[in-house]
Amino acid sequence: MATVINLDGNLVPPAEATVSVFDRGFLYGDSVYEVVRTYGRHPFELDAHLARLARSAERLGLALPWDAARTRRELLRTLGAVPPPDDPEPEAAPWNRGQLSLRIIMTRGAGELGLDPALAVDPRAMVIASPLRAPPLAAYHDGVSCRIVGVRHEAPGTVDPGAKTGAHLANVLALREARAAGAHEALLLSGTGQVTEGASSNVFAARAGTLATPPLGAGILAGVTRALVLELAREARIPAREVPLLPDDLATCDELFITSTAREILPVTVLDGRPVGSGRVGPVTTRLGALFRARADRAASGAG
Ligand code: PDD
Repeated sequence: MATVINLDGNLVPPAEATVSVFDRGFLYGDSVYEVVRTYGRHPFELDAHLARLARSAERLGLALPWDAARTRRELLRTLGAVPPPDDPEPEAAPWNRGQLSLRIIMTRGAGELGLDPALAVDPRAMVIASPLRAPPLAAYHDGVSCRIVGVRHEAPGTVDPGAKTGAHLANVLALREARAAGAHEALLLSGTGQVTEGASSNVFAARAGTLATPPLGAGILAGVTRALVLELAREARIPAREVPLLPDDLATCDELFITSTAREILPVTVLDGRPVGSGRVGPVTTRLGALFRARADRAASGAG
């Protein structure tokens, strides 16, 4: 399946989609981004992603080159230019086949070398529409493994972890550590040893039928999928609490799962090489997974 790129409002092939070596996104991670996905080729939860993009930019004092309406238009135009898939993707979950990932990136732009943001002269806007990379169907049935890594999460007051910025090196190193240990995802602790989030996901634990996830105040990204899971839990009257969690809470819980745009609700059945609960996908995860599926299926039909 082809990748289509929108660079400052022009649809260009990947080989022509280049930015300057003086771009601050490249030099300093001085950029913000979002990753949106499609169901039935319709963007999912786009309003929430656009709102978070605006919040991230505000936290960085980065003036976005496109407003929300233009970003929506450009995203839809980019999405519409991707040809239908020709690859059957046999291992993909049926709902992920032929779907796209839409990465919106806005950088403060290029300028003379130097940290001072006032040196930036031309903010850039991009949308990369590429085939969705999601876990295979088997991962939703069997669960995946996570590892609590030694790399610590950015503290609030440093690079704001609530903003989705291009400064992602701690997450890169955390994932590197997890993958070296054979795990699918890294879970990061704060400087004080509390559980924060995954390298590119939020984390939930269930014990005795009650769901728990670290609060936003723990200095984590306000995941769009996280918010949806909390909403679905409320509707289904599954008790859910946003509370600080320690590694031991994860090691002794009944069920664990991670959430993100591409992965949706992904069961975690192994933590640090040991089974979580029974070592099988549990009832709370299964129930929320079904509710999430219903919501996504509605979006796939264009009604979401
Ligand atoms: N990342 N936490 C972090 C640090 C993330 O980078 C992400 C998502 C999430 C989950 O957020 P959401 O449910 O809104 O996708 C949590 C995107 C998908 C990425 O970088 O690919």
